[in-house]
Formats: sequence, structure tokens, C-alpha cells
Amino acid sequence: MQNSRSSGPSISPAAVVVAAVFLLVSVIGINWFLSFVPVVLPEQASAESKSVDELFYILMIIGGVVFFLIQGMLLISVIAFRAPPGDTGDGPTYHGNPLLEIVWTIIPALVIVFLAVVSYNIWTQNSAPKASVNMVDGASIKINVTGARYAWTHTYATERFDPDGAQIIINSGADLHTYIGQNVDLTLQTQDVIHSYWVPAMRVKQDLLPGDPAQGGRPTQLRFTPVRVDGKTYPAEYPIVCAELCGDGHGRMRGTVIVYEDESRFLDQFYEPAIHAILNPPADPILRGEVEIQNYICNSCHILDSLGWTATTGPSLNGIAERAGERVPGQSAEEYIAISIWNSGAFRVPGYDQQMAAFGPDVMETANIMSPEQLYSIVAYLCTQGEHSDCDMENASTSIPAAIQTVFGYEVDITFGLDGDAGAETPDAEAESGDGSA
Ligand code: CUA
Repeated sequence: MQNSRSSGPSISPAAVVVAAVFLLVSVIGINWFLSFVPVVLPEQASAESKSVDELFYILMIIGGVVFFLIQGMLLISVIAFRAPPGDTGDGPTYHGNPLLEIVWTIIPALVIVFLAVVSYNIWTQNSAPKASVNMVDGASIKINVTGARYAWTHTYATERFDPDGAQIIINSGADLHTYIGQNVDLTLQTQDVIHSYWVPAMRVKQDLLPGDPAQGGRPTQLRFTPVRVDGKTYPAEYPIVCAELCGDGHGRMRGTVIVYEDESRFLDQFYEPAIHAILNPPADPILRGEVEIQNYICNSCHILDSLGWTATTGPSLNGIAERAGERVPGQSAEEYIAISIWNSGAFRVPGYDQQMAAFGPDVMETANIMSPEQLYSIVAYLCTQGEHSDCDMENASTSIPAAIQTVFGYEVDITFGLDGDAGAETPDAEAESGDGSA
């Protein structure tokens, strides 16, 4: 085949100029780009964040060099080896160049091995178990995170017990409370699909994996240690984000890490008040229910004007007391509400998917458990939502356990909260088929 440029490529002065300009632009470009990184990245709020950011810089620099190298060569080729006007023939044909091919295989291979080693080191360092985790008042307690479409729930299995000997569990809803220097070690479990617990400021992210609920799901761990950030006012707040597309409410699945300045402030401002509130609930079950229901994640899916809830994933709770008695034949209003909360899969409101978290003790081993007394209080509160109420709360302490026995096949006792005089008493009922409080 006739070829107008049989002499092969030669380096023209134009190509040298282009190459020089390209080099200059690359250096300036990478530097300019890197100057934005601190703006893009959130503050380094954990001990782990420095090494993660260092890895990020290494990746950016290598990626930047490769990008500019390839784009630059492309540009040089287009300009320096452009066909002369009127030349419509094919260019010269080249066959393999073993040396070149070996070089361009070995260099990327070395880069990838280097990145793998560096990444692996940082990963193992940051995710390694630490010695004293979740230290609260001298004890290492367990902190559980439950992910359910579409909310996070944090629970603290304290080392405190109520007068009847039941372990006190603090439910702090979508907020994780911690303090500077605490080695946080979270146990994560999902109630439905895969979620991903991501705290950008801490540079940590961990998936929640579905598993057999009978075996406590398939828990994963997440570890980090908050550090002081200069110029930050405390308690400092950092967003928790779901980083795994889990449904139409994925974008709303958020929470907050609240970091106190030290352990004593953590105890004074969060821990002790939370325990006090559990040990001294309002005497009136309706008032208790109003407090309890806000500890759970109901607001992420339901409308309830009384509490300012506006989410639409689940059915509206406005006027629930008026219609709850008509949902399931044979179930009274208070029974229906209780069964639906305990395990919403028992009955589904037409037009809605089964997406609600379950709270009964047979569902999950560790987190998100609602005691029968909490359930009773929440039912009492919801039974006030409507122009009129079909609920019979007079007998609910026996009718609700009976309905639970019928539907789920196990016994629960509700032994406080009756007659509105229960403030002095303490919760002591436990589900027979599972540990209702732990
Ligand atoms: Cu949970 Cu996205």
C-alpha cells in the first residue's frame, strides 16, 4: 500500500514545545487540584483520618500523573503527527514492540502492588481491635447500631441495672454519643437490606450485612477514636450517612455523631440523664409513650402532626385510634397497634410495602428491642391520636399480651403502667422466649 510518510515518526520542534507546555501544565494542574482537597474533605475528626487522607493524596497524585500523561500524549500525537493537508492514505503500520510492552506492563503492575500494600497496611491498622473500647464510667460497654429502612438506631447496653436487676439499655435513636479519646467499637446489624454506616469526618465506613436473625443477624464491627479538632466547639456534631442504596428513603437515612469534650461531660450531659429518665419514667403511660416513641425511628417513615412528623414511606399515624379497630377482624384497636409495632409484617396496610423495622424480642438478639412496657406506653400514646379512640386501655395490660401470644406464640407480661400510678414502680416484665431487655 502506498504511503506518503514512509520514513516513520520523527520528533518535530512543535512536539518538543507541546511536551514542555504539557509538563508545565501538569505540574501546575496537579498542585492546583490538590489545593482544593482540604476544602473538599471534612475535618479530620478521628485518629484514623490522617492515614486515610494520606492514602487519598497518594491516589490523587498517581491518578493525576497518569491522567495528564495519557491526555498529554494524546494531545502531542494529534498535533505533532497530524497528516498533511490532502493526505488521505493510511499511516505506517507498526507491529509489536516487546520492550515497550514490557515497560508499560511492569510500571502499572508495580504501582498497583505499591497501592495494595499501602492500602492494606492502613486498613489493618485502622480496623484493628483496640484494648479499652467504649469505656464508660470505668466499664467497657457494648454499643449496638441497628440499620433499618430508613433510619439508624444506637443502643448502649449499660452496666447499670434497675431495682429488679434488669440491665438498663439506653436508646439514643439516630445519634451516637461519644467523647474525645473514647475508642468507639460499634456492632452493626441490619433488619432488612444492606446498609452502609458512613461517618465522613471519622473516615470510616462499614456495611451492615443481612443474616439469619435467629443467629443475631450477621454483625459487623466499626472502630474509630474521635480526636480534638482545633477551632471546633464542643459537643461537636458530625453527620452519619447511609452509603449503600437501600430504597427510596436512602437519602434520608442519616444520623449524627455527637462528640463531647471528655468523659465527664459525656456522662453529665448524655449518659446519666438518659439512665435517670429510664429509671424515673413519667407516671402517666400516655406521657411515657410520647417520650418512648421518639426514642425509636418511627419519625423517619410516618406522618404524625402531634409530633411534627412528615415522612411518607409508611402510612400516616394521624387519627390512628379511630381506625385501628377496623384493620384486622378479631383484633381490637389497641391489640392491632401493639401487634403492628411488635412486628409490622403481621399485617400490612394496603398500598404499603413491608419496610418497617420489627421490635419484638424474637426478631433480633441485641439491638432495637422494645420492652413490653415500652410497647404498652407507645400504644397508650397512639391511642390518643384521633377525634375519638376505639382503644380499650383499661384492659390492655392483659389483652395485648394475649394478642401477642395468639399471633407470635410466646408469652409477655406487662406489669407496670396500670392505673397511671406506676411511676414509682419499675419495668420488670420480660419476654419468655427471648431476653427482652438485652
Ligand atoms: Cu440505608 Cu441507604
